[in-house]
Amino acid sequence: MNSVRNSGLSGVWTHATDIVVEKGEGIYLYDTEGKRYIDFTSGIGVVNTGHCHPEVVAAIQKQAAALIFGQLNIVTHKPVLQLAEKLNTLTPPELDTFFFSNSGAEAVEAAVKLAKHATGKTNIIVFNGSFHGRTHLTMAMTTSKPIYRKKYQPLVAGIFTSPYPYAYYYGWPEKETLDFAVKELEKVLASQTSPEETAAIIVEPVLGEGGYVVPPNGFLKKIREICDKNGILMIADEIQSGFGRTGRFFAFEHEQIVPDIVTIAKGVASGMPLSGIIYRHALGEKWITGSHGGTYGGNPVACAAAVATLNVLENEQLVHNAEVRGKELLERLQEFKKQYHFIGDVRGRGLMAAVEFSENHAPAPERAKAVIKAAAERKLLLLSCGTYSNIIRWIPPLIVTKEQLAEGLSLFAEALEQTR
Ligand SMILES: Cc1ncc(COP(=O)(O)O)c(C=O)c1O
Repeated sequence: MNSVRNSGLSGVWTHATDIVVEKGEGIYLYDTEGKRYIDFTSGIGVVNTGHCHPEVVAAIQKQAAALIFGQLNIVTHKPVLQLAEKLNTLTPPELDTFFFSNSGAEAVEAAVKLAKHATGKTNIIVFNGSFHGRTHLTMAMTTSKPIYRKKYQPLVAGIFTSPYPYAYYYGWPEKETLDFAVKELEKVLASQTSPEETAAIIVEPVLGEGGYVVPPNGFLKKIREICDKNGILMIADEIQSGFGRTGRFFAFEHEQIVPDIVTIAKGVASGMPLSGIIYRHALGEKWITGSHGGTYGGNPVACAAAVATLNVLENEQLVHNAEVRGKELLERLQEFKKQYHFIGDVRGRGLMAAVEFSENHAPAPERAKAVIKAAAERKLLLLSCGTYSNIIRWIPPLIVTKEQLAEGLSLFAEALEQTR
């Protein structure tokens, strides 16, 4: 078999490793030689129920044998109805309407298109460091790294950027950082895109690709207030932070607010391509029938996988597990911070945690890279993130046990020690 380097596969994909995988089970991936890896990347936050959870596999097999495809412009099928019904029991009562697509970027596109129709306005405010996708619109909304937009300019117009309250980056206390971000957001509305032109503000309730930044408490509430005061819609991009990842079903629940639109993908279907938006029914009254859609969105097999995923999250109390394991994870990472001068910051919410590497407060990407490599040599898979790639993100599957987490952390300790 060819390796990834001489396979004919496009070189446009980045590859964090050369591992060719054959099997996945729980927190583990197995390569073609049978070597076992602890996957604490969860396929970038996708397999929250672990690889090939038996109940998800069974649902996929059963559905594939019955109906692989039923095009939603032509017919409706049971799995999509069941998924909407199930999600309705898990979301705040105001968020009662569901549209399904395939990728995260497509969900963000849908959210923006809905916001434009619902408000009759054109502009969108995003936060600096955000990642919303790789399509032309979502690329214009993405400011986590220049690689995503370099040489693709000019980008879609009408996107305006405001700072995310990233306290460690600014070197300020949380309260000061929050006040700054709110002031700057108000200034964007005063100086660049007026409330009369602004359809929506989109926010990642925990910044993902941009650095696993937990915003100061009160940030989401402030956005909600600003949106309400100015007739602007609030979109929460929960594509990475959703489905139990942060110890709540959605990360916006940490602040007791309800957005107008929520984007979902990744964790919703344990690896089957499914995404979507959840929104307030009233908004849809202005979303003209036929003005949005897609061939594959709401595929029956993907929807069946999503229903099974939601059942597993509930029955195995995985949201609670994310909260409990998340506390253990953060505690241990804090100890590492005391031990190693090159760890500048440790932060997280549930099983969405970060170790930021810096030397004299300057980003240290080489250190992060060396630690990831040393961890991979020990068969522990971890991913970087952040504008400067100097942050290691921890995204274990939500099924991770106390012992498995401790094993991963002890391999991480060895990797840190190797690069000391
Ligand atoms: C917060 C967020 N939004 C949108 C996306 C885009 O999702 P996709 O890669 O499925 O298009 C991602 C992907 O990492 C994400 O993390």
